[in-house]
Amino acid sequence: MATDCSQPALDSKWKQGFRRKLLAWFAKHERDLPWRKSRDPYRVWVSEIMLQQTQVETVIPYFERFVKIYPTVEKLAAAEESEVLRLWEGLGYYRRARSLHAAARRIVTEHDGKFPRNVAKLKDLPGIGRYTAGAIASIAFNQRVPILEANTIRLLARLLAYPDDTSKSTGQRILWATAEELLPSTEISSFNQALMELGSLVCTPLNPLCDKCPVARHCHAFLAGLQHKIPASPSKVKSTPLREAAIVVRKKNHVLLRQCDQGERWAGLWDFVRFEISSSEPRLLQRELKQKTRELSGVSIGSASPITTIKHSVTRYRITLDGYQTDYVSGTINQTGALQRWVSIKKLSEYPLSSTGRKLAKLISC
Ligand code: ADE
Repeated sequence: MATDCSQPALDSKWKQGFRRKLLAWFAKHERDLPWRKSRDPYRVWVSEIMLQQTQVETVIPYFERFVKIYPTVEKLAAAEESEVLRLWEGLGYYRRARSLHAAARRIVTEHDGKFPRNVAKLKDLPGIGRYTAGAIASIAFNQRVPILEANTIRLLARLLAYPDDTSKSTGQRILWATAEELLPSTEISSFNQALMELGSLVCTPLNPLCDKCPVARHCHAFLAGLQHKIPASPSKVKSTPLREAAIVVRKKNHVLLRQCDQGERWAGLWDFVRFEISSSEPRLLQRELKQKTRELSGVSIGSASPITTIKHSVTRYRITLDGYQTDYVSGTINQTGALQRWVSIKKLSEYPLSSTGRKLAKLISC
């Protein structure tokens, strides 16, 4: 077990050399990414929220479309949440979009449309944690505050040859302290972006490119030949299999949609009637589909025909989703609970759907 004292001390010569080499490397190798065209805190913020759990290449077209439609925090605050979710569709982790929208409204109403420069005030906004606050304050305002995200966690763990799980509180404390200790006195914006860039392009998770690394001689993992073993793999959480059904209920050229409620997966997005299933035997399964559709939506359906099966994972669940279509038979949609409505098939493109909902929508036609 590592203790704080077992971490190598980073003396001032080491730190100066590290900063100089890193910044010189970044000046040459910085990627031309759309959010780097200005230091506008709004663009920095949108990009950092999108980059959480999502690769740079995936984010680029989403970012460009988003800032074209909402070029300022005021424009975002004035939008409807459903429009923001529709633009976010496909990026996943929709809570990020809902928080972004809620925070935009707070920035307009409580801060006169100006981004707070102070980390504590930034952290007070929805969806902004220590990392995002540090990224906005350092990248946009050049404030001397550290950042720590996936790329920098890996890079710093290797620099220190930190042997334990970096997601545990001891690892986090040591790495945040190191990120702070390494900060230069000027050029913070470039320095923090350079750390992420080196982590992303050179200090990669598998097969790090140590022969191209400007700070290999500073790296305790490299010097000890441990770069493939560090960071330690986090202890795996066992995943749980789950069977679900999604029912496309048709009434002429309309289908039944339901807006996922607060506290449900994909809150705010729309989906077909969807629930967990347990039956396998065909007759029992048909009975279960009819009964659960009626309970959830209020309408009775005919027999359900399979359209497709989609396998996907959400948090610790490995879901097998069987999609069905069927005709509406009788009943009226429930007026209590989640919002539900009959939507013309032609208008499905206007609704923010869950990603599996969108796949099913693409398989049905008028
Ligand atoms: N990952 C998270 N933030 C990033 C940024 N600003 N540039 C590149 N990769 C990132």
